[in-house]
Amino acid sequence: MTGISRRGSTGENDSTQNCKVALLGFGTVGSSVARILCERSNTHLRLTHVLNRNVERKKVDWLPASVKWTETIDDVIHSDVDIVVEVMGGIQPSDDWIRRALSSGKSVVTANKQLIARSGPELIRLARENNQQIQFGASVAGGVPVISGVHEGLAGDELFKICGILNGTCNYILSQIESKGVPFATALKDAQKLGFAEADPTEDIDGLDARAKLAILVRVGLHCNVKAENIEPRSISAIDSVDFEYAKQLGCTIRQISLAELRTEPKAEPSGGELFATVCPALVEISSPLAHVEGARNLVMATGKYGGETLFGGHGAGGNPTAVAIVSDILAIARAKQSAMNHAGQPVEKTPIVTANFTAKHYLRFLVRDRPGIIASLATILSNCGINIDAVLQKPGCDKSHLPFLITLEECKASLVEEALAKINSLDFIVQPCLHLPIL
Ligand SMILES: NC(=O)c1ccc[n+]([C@@H]2O[C@H](COP(=O)([O-])OP(=O)(O)OC[C@H]3O[C@@H](n4cnc5c(N)ncnc54)[C@H](OP(=O)(O)O)[C@@H]3O)[C@@H](O)[C@H]2O)c1
Repeated sequence: MTGISRRGSTGENDSTQNCKVALLGFGTVGSSVARILCERSNTHLRLTHVLNRNVERKKVDWLPASVKWTETIDDVIHSDVDIVVEVMGGIQPSDDWIRRALSSGKSVVTANKQLIARSGPELIRLARENNQQIQFGASVAGGVPVISGVHEGLAGDELFKICGILNGTCNYILSQIESKGVPFATALKDAQKLGFAEADPTEDIDGLDARAKLAILVRVGLHCNVKAENIEPRSISAIDSVDFEYAKQLGCTIRQISLAELRTEPKAEPSGGELFATVCPALVEISSPLAHVEGARNLVMATGKYGGETLFGGHGAGGNPTAVAIVSDILAIARAKQSAMNHAGQPVEKTPIVTANFTAKHYLRFLVRDRPGIIASLATILSNCGINIDAVLQKPGCDKSHLPFLITLEECKASLVEEALAKINSLDFIVQPCLHLPIL
């Protein structure tokens, strides 16, 4: 195990220890981490290596001359660096390089949600085997300390539900549709222009980014071993400004919600029972803190058996907020190394069955070619599926060939609604498939 070197030879306080840090990736987050490490004088962290491909074009004059710039991972692996910070993103070579760093006695900090969602337990095990740590606080909700919050701050509780807004891009787009009344495509284009959405926004819009983060939170907070692929994501792309008008009439707004809830007592079944988990656009009541998350911010609500609800909120992305989370992880590792503690993560306890078949009230927004008898046809199908209608709402003065109207349903299983919609969506008056959102 690599020790933390003493600074005695420099004449500084003998009790102060230097912790040597290498950065893999000098992009948005990496350069912010480097700046914090260099500007903050009250830590014992020392940046010694910066690795990036084609590194010449990355060099800056504000880093100490002692920092070694490199394109070669062996320079880091064969050095006396204590902590390797992976901020390149992507699965490879990040995965290989993290494994090599851990195996060679270095701890690791990473912001890589896709990698942690996919290989987190294996990497934690490898860290333990090598008496090292891997921390990934920045992989969920950027600068919001939700991983350490649920892992350490709420360790005394038995959490059973995590619900939050984990994707700033989706939240920004939905907030824009809500406040400006623009169509989805316009809100997406604006978000791309302002740098809130990638050129290819699929990962964000279709919920893949949020479900990777949810899988990590489920592991850390609910101690359930769940694969991201088992969590059903639903896109926000069908949301229109008319949905916000209807939602408002119901005392709600619409947000992309990531939700995981243990429905059965985890101790009751050896498998871990059933975990309801989904990432989907949903109606949330205006009184909920989730309704007030604006722009690219994130919010996570963790609910425990004893402590009730705890909220974590703030900037879910951006170089500096994310870098703060990374430096906090580096400091936590350095502290633990000094006190010879090993916090490499709690053992994963349960492997529940993951399902998106939740019981909730539902919002169905139709777009139809108007003619008599539409409501009667829909009511018949819904009733045949054992579903009760709660309310019917229609905005006056709309084009009869593209008439939007709303039906809300009393509490029922999502699978019953899907069964009814499979029949409804093929009816001749349906202009586009019905938008179905849970009301949470
Ligand atoms: N940005 C955020 O707000 C944010 C928030 C939370 C988490 N994260 C996570 O943080 C990580 C970094 O994000 P970022 O926004 O800083 O990305 P970025 O700006 O694209 O930076 C990545 C850096 O790594 C370098 N790199 C990529 N692949 C490499 C390879 N194979 N070998 C050597 N260097 C390589 C890139 O070099 P090039 O210049 O040649 O591309 C670039 O300098 C990602 O995992 C991301 O998901 C980011």
